[in-house]
Amino acid sequence: MRKKIVAGNWKMNKTFSQAEDLLFSIADRLQKDRPEDVTVVVFPPALYLELAKDVSTDNDFSFGAQNINEHESGAYTGEISAAMVQSIGAEYVILGHSERRQYFGENDNVIAEKIKLALSHELTPVYCCGEALEERENGHHFSVVESQINDALFGLEEDDFKRIVIAYEPVWAIGTGRTATPEQAQEMHAFIRNCVAAKFGKQAADMVSILYGGSCNAANAAELFANADVDGGLIGGASLKPDDFVAIVNSFPK
Ligand code: 13P
Repeated sequence: MRKKIVAGNWKMNKTFSQAEDLLFSIADRLQKDRPEDVTVVVFPPALYLELAKDVSTDNDFSFGAQNINEHESGAYTGEISAAMVQSIGAEYVILGHSERRQYFGENDNVIAEKIKLALSHELTPVYCCGEALEERENGHHFSVVESQINDALFGLEEDDFKRIVIAYEPVWAIGTGRTATPEQAQEMHAFIRNCVAAKFGKQAADMVSILYGGSCNAANAAELFANADVDGGLIGGASLKPDDFVAIVNSFPK
């Protein structure tokens, strides 16, 4: 069975003491109330990864980085490498987020390099894909997502593919309060799984967790997670509120 995952992408939010409060609040709530079969991952800013490691001593949650550089090491001022993230005990890294594509000019070639590097350092990439509003309105959403999956993931080996998580994040739903409907999410997740099956076979496709991201919150998570191909969520704004985040963790069908 593939994993059910709820992950919180904090983006560029929280000072050190606020991050400490949030991590302890999440850990505390998870200890009281959490289904055993759901993997919880937090993605704080990289500065707080060590803090996340300290707080999660009872393995309440896993943690990961929001980005890595595409080079192994060297003169890249301000950047963080896969080896650094691995060495601190992180297990995951978000790659291909639309904010990285939009504001930092990342394309699928760079993202493909980062994915390979992440895998070689035993980090699980959470690969984000998703169409812009105009692309959906023009009816191009399937072809856009298909080419994102193709370009970034299809140079990998089948075995690599089993260690990848995919997040479908329609750009028009991120931070807008406009969530994809459960039907739109299910339709795209099934499409992505079919793309994976066509390339790597049904077994690999059945193993890959596909998360939904984009204005997913405590009020709409249950109807999204009730769909066969929606294996959880990559949560932005609502992951900064411990009650809401843990409510989302508890939103899978019983
Ligand atoms: P919001 O949940 O704030 O829409 O952000 C989603 C996201 O970008 C997660 O990576």
